[in-house]
Amino acid sequence: MRKLRAGIVGCSGIANDKHLPAIQRNGNFEITAFCDLFEERAQTAKETYGTPDARVYTDYRELLREDLDVVYVLTPNSTHAEVSIAAMESGKHVMCEKPMAKTYAEAKAMVDVAHRTGKVLNIGYQCRYRADAQYLKQACEDGELGDIYFAKALAVRRRAVPTWGVFLDKDKQGGGPLIDMGTHALDMTLWMMDNYEVESVTGSTFQKLADQTNTGNRWGDWDPAKFTVEDSAFGFIKMKNGATIVLESSWALNMVESEGAQTLLCGTKAGADMKDGLRINRVHYGRQCIEKPDLTTGMPENPDDIEQRIFYHAVADGAELVVKPEQALVVTRVLEAIYESAGTGKTIYFD
Ligand SMILES: NC(=O)c1ccc[n+]([C@@H]2O[C@H](COP(=O)([O-])OP(=O)(O)OC[C@H]3O[C@@H](n4cnc5c(N)ncnc54)[C@H](O)[C@@H]3O)[C@@H](O)[C@H]2O)c1
Repeated sequence: MRKLRAGIVGCSGIANDKHLPAIQRNGNFEITAFCDLFEERAQTAKETYGTPDARVYTDYRELLREDLDVVYVLTPNSTHAEVSIAAMESGKHVMCEKPMAKTYAEAKAMVDVAHRTGKVLNIGYQCRYRADAQYLKQACEDGELGDIYFAKALAVRRRAVPTWGVFLDKDKQGGGPLIDMGTHALDMTLWMMDNYEVESVTGSTFQKLADQTNTGNRWGDWDPAKFTVEDSAFGFIKMKNGATIVLESSWALNMVESEGAQTLLCGTKAGADMKDGLRINRVHYGRQCIEKPDLTTGMPENPDDIEQRIFYHAVADGAELVVKPEQALVVTRVLEAIYESAGTGKTIYFD
């Protein structure tokens, strides 16, 4: 298989936690350029994951002058559109982290450039490749749930505020738990429903716990002075066919149960949720039953590896992406509408 030359922009959290190890395991990429505002981060990544002659930059525009096939955009949300667009314009395919962009206008510009240049634009919604999500998607596609008319998109943490990097900075991230984790949950939910026709969005956001100290937070106390995003956000999304989605997201909320990015679906034939693995509920032979697949069987695969493989084949062989940029664009628009609705107190209607 042809090796793809890759450049990395942003060499910290998600680069080291997800992409760099997965690229290395994949084996069909060689990373020849690294960029970070902090040169030492790019240098460290190069030493572990780069080719011996890989170059290190602090300005992504210099990295883009390199002869690369693909560029990974692993920087804070406010830079996703700028770097991705510049990369596609300079002839590179792009793997961009979630959320697609800070605003709908930026995300729309990314999709437009991808269409015009013919470049692959993949968004890092790796939750779709989890075993529970893959199984549930198959069940949805096979019609096992029937017509899905109610869903919940859940990403609720009791006290797990990310205190590193710029996550609390509204200007750099565009928002808090909604744009950070709610984006995964909504992406999964719309994908399961295979319904991207939104009619209206109503939202509430809260910043109620951000000024507290002695927080009991998983990653240590946050600095209230730097906490400029919401600490929880909720949305009510009506689709054109009447189907309804309730979105719940929080980094800090006074409730006992925490749910990672999850979806709950209610259809005419069956329902499903991701509590305690995956549960599909239905009535069978006049009895209520719950199917609980053993997701450790059948060659489980790391979602990060699936993501890299799909990206590789999309670039090298023209294979279809699973996460279509047009789908990520709808997710971005709904999130923006929740923020707008929370700010104006009005329901936002889509055309
Ligand atoms: N897919 C997931 O589940 C997941 C999980 C965590 C983070 N993310 C996303 O990844 C992105 C980065 O998050 P992170 O946790 O890695 O943050 P981070 O702060 O750990 O790392 C970001 C890095 O980008 C660098 N950077 C900032 N602006 C830059 C620029 N213009 N050019 C070059 N480098 C620049 C910073 O110096 C930093 O080293 C965010 O958009 C976040 O939403 C996704």
